[in-house]
Amino acid sequence: MFNVETYKGSKEKQYEMVHKQLKALLEDEPNRIANLSNASALLNQFLDETNWVGFYLMEDGELVLGPFQGLPACVRIPLGKGVCGTAAGENKTMRVEDVRAFPGHIACDAASQSEIVVPLVKDSEVIGVLDIDSPVKSRFDEEDQKGLETFAEILTKSI
Ligand code: SME
Repeated sequence: MFNVETYKGSKEKQYEMVHKQLKALLEDEPNRIANLSNASALLNQFLDETNWVGFYLMEDGELVLGPFQGLPACVRIPLGKGVCGTAAGENKTMRVEDVRAFPGHIACDAASQSEIVVPLVKDSEVIGVLDIDSPVKSRFDEEDQKGLETFAEILTKSI
């Protein structure tokens, strides 16, 4: 059974605890859908002020919706389009303080105000992205970015 933690201490310490929980969830399990599903559920119960947490996976040169928590979302995102397609196309984390000010942002949930997208990179190739939306502007800071990039690295080894 999954033990619900009370996350305490600095943000860095809290992310360390989540990374530990992620490693425990992934242990000895190679199934991609199972691991992505649990990873999105883990992040969703950890992060506050978020309204969408999930994955898009590369398939035939475009991003296709994967496991997530939140409202139903757009299924296909071409490379280079929106925040997700830009992060995947440039292999670069995108931290968007105000989605309305981002040209080409794809609105899936009208409540979203800020967003972070972290590429999932395996053998130097972008195989998908982790996408998190918040109903609050500037929700994600540099520490979130570091914590989520490490989260993505750990996860990518198991998908
Ligand atoms: N906002 C994203 C689209 C995906 S949803 O946020 C779930 C984008 O601009 O790529």
